[in-house]
Amino acid sequence: MNELVEKINKLKKDKNAVILAHCYQNIEIDEVADFVGDSLYLSRQAAKTDADIIIFAGVYFMAQVAKILSPDKRVFLPRMESGCLMADMITLKDLREFKSQHPNIPVVCYINSTAEVKTECDICVTSSNAVDVVRSLNVPEVLFLPDTYLGKWVERQLNGTKVITYPGFCPTHMRIRPADIEKAKKLLPNAKVLAHPECKKEVTDIADFVGSTKDIMNFVKHSSYDKFIIATEKGVTDRLTRDYPNKNFIPAAENLICPNMKWNTLADIYNVLLNEENEIFVAEDIAKKAIKCVDRMLEVTEKCLTK
Ligand code: 13P
Ligand code: SF4
Repeated sequence: MNELVEKINKLKKDKNAVILAHCYQNIEIDEVADFVGDSLYLSRQAAKTDADIIIFAGVYFMAQVAKILSPDKRVFLPRMESGCLMADMITLKDLREFKSQHPNIPVVCYINSTAEVKTECDICVTSSNAVDVVRSLNVPEVLFLPDTYLGKWVERQLNGTKVITYPGFCPTHMRIRPADIEKAKKLLPNAKVLAHPECKKEVTDIADFVGSTKDIMNFVKHSSYDKFIIATEKGVTDRLTRDYPNKNFIPAAENLICPNMKWNTLADIYNVLLNEENEIFVAEDIAKKAIKCVDRMLEVTEKCLTK
């Protein structure tokens, strides 16, 4: 076993720490991770862990959510510069302006948003529960931010709810074009196209399945097909290639990398665990307000999962 992996695993035990890793992380991080998955899965793990320390191998907003859900735990981010470019597209000032243009409409925020923005939203969603959560509101229209593509995809899955979206987007998913999918189909004929809902409409329209990162991996797990084009960040293609050696996967486009997700390395995780640097703090007044929309989402999700 890699020496660094051994050292991290020992430190984890000594300090009663847990490592949560998003599936866009560099794949070697899985060797030390206790949980690997999508935003919803990881936030549910953060809410129920009894560890003293959470190391969040992901981006800043994910570590913030973990801290909000587990205020008594110490939460660390391996690299502080790992921000989500989409989350940073909306500030509290932008949100207030967006709301003032469309008054008295429930506000739904994608979990990919800052804690400050969450304080003035009604309910949070992730890519895997967005449709169920918006449906549960049972209202004719909602404001949705920051991702316009996820918001509009949700609208297409619902029967008549109008989703008014803020013009945010993910630069990585935005890059995938239908022409890339056509090219990939030539390289891997008869492959199923699996896409993340952050992709443009032209892409989700031609996909065979649309879902969160973890839903895409579950789709492959339960599918009898053996060829797939993966329209999301490369971390998902890498994990599928590792886990299903008898199936074929190609990324929907070249260089499908979220640079911020890729900052974190095993060495950073080791340093953070050892030196307890890069701790995440969320001011109490912000955390108190932001937790409401996250808790509301988790309540709806638990209900949907137990149905
Ligand atoms: P998931 O919730 O599907 O993991 O998505 C998170 C994300 O940042 C996608 O770009
Ligand atoms: Fe944010 Fe896009 Fe990176 Fe996901 S892939 S963390 S949405 S910038």
